[in-house]
Amino acid sequence: MFGFGAMIQKLKADPKRIVLTEGEDPRILEAASRLLASSFLTPILLGDEQEVMNAAEEAGFNIRGAHIINPLTYDKIDDVVKEFYEIRKEKGMTMEKAAKLMQQRNYFGTMLVKMGVADCLLGGATYSTADTVRPALQIIKTKPRNSIVSSCFILVRPGATGENEVLAMADCAINIQPSEDELVEICGETINCAKIFGVDPKVAFLSYSTHGSGKGDSVDKMRNAAAKAREEYPDVPIDGELQFDAAVSPRVARQKAPGSSVAGYANTFIFPDINAGNLGYKIAQRMGNFEAYGPILLGLNAQVNDLSRGCNALEVYSMAIITAALT
Ligand SMILES: CC(C)(COP(=O)(O)OP(=O)(O)OC[C@H]1O[C@@H](n2cnc3c(N)ncnc32)[C@H](O)[C@@H]1OP(=O)(O)O)[C@@H](O)C(=O)NCCC(=O)NCCS
Repeated sequence: MFGFGAMIQKLKADPKRIVLTEGEDPRILEAASRLLASSFLTPILLGDEQEVMNAAEEAGFNIRGAHIINPLTYDKIDDVVKEFYEIRKEKGMTMEKAAKLMQQRNYFGTMLVKMGVADCLLGGATYSTADTVRPALQIIKTKPRNSIVSSCFILVRPGATGENEVLAMADCAINIQPSEDELVEICGETINCAKIFGVDPKVAFLSYSTHGSGKGDSVDKMRNAAAKAREEYPDVPIDGELQFDAAVSPRVARQKAPGSSVAGYANTFIFPDINAGNLGYKIAQRMGNFEAYGPILLGLNAQVNDLSRGCNALEVYSMAIITAALT
């Protein structure tokens, strides 16, 4: 994939440890065996050691040398429970509740990252997005200078070599109805992430209206957010509100948004809400045949990422590398 070689080089120079919460899942085991065959990323599989080993043998994957941790028998579980309780006690957490939550791999795995046993986490092969993301929001928390955690997808046309074959789309997975200011923050984080994947961002704030052709609160929201983002990130071409056709088609752009520095050539898309974003990236993936990597969480103090429950082993492997490289 585009940018992948550079990520692997980065990890070779500075290897990381990644928690994979669903240790017995065959897709996780296949990705883990591939990671173990190289030496730049150490998987920490969560689950009962014997069950994980049996599942690997049954599926035919060699995970010799894998680090397996069972939350139910972990020798430092008391420290983990205590630290989690300390983090959440102002939110009504009790030691009993903390001990119970630490039996759940999504919470326990996130605490391993918080306590420095691992550098990052990838989950969600069986957990929902909310169940993977919630422990990260509560434990890892938002970076000091950010007000929200958001997410983006990187869309890659297979065999991409040219311009605008790698795209960024946000926020397709976390914030349900972002405000104007939250859209500006999502834009800034997405610009940074897009650059890591080799994209030279040209940002379109998307809408059903182009430069005032339609009216409505959501149109105003996207226009105002684009204006604020232009002020905030003056070095990046940003325009909005733009319809998707005006954003990507030079012919339509000439008609609907003449003189725009973005229209016709946008490669970084900010959607008005999660409905539009989630549908948008899936249309590109399923009907446009783009490979979709994400959701990549943005704005957390440590990298935690979520897999789609429909993911395959290659996607787990790729997302593990992306997660660690962004750490
Ligand atoms: C992200 C999400 C899971 C959080 O929902 P939730 O668990 O109901 O969150 P809550 O409102 O109970 O908040 C839990 C904590 O996270 C924090 N939080 C919630 N959303 C946040 C965000 N976007 N950024 C930073 N912190 C956030 C809250 O402040 C709260 O912190 P606290 O407990 O320390 O006070 C929710 O927004 C969601 O479900 N989003 C859509 C996910 C989805 O289905 N995506 C589509 C599939 S890809």
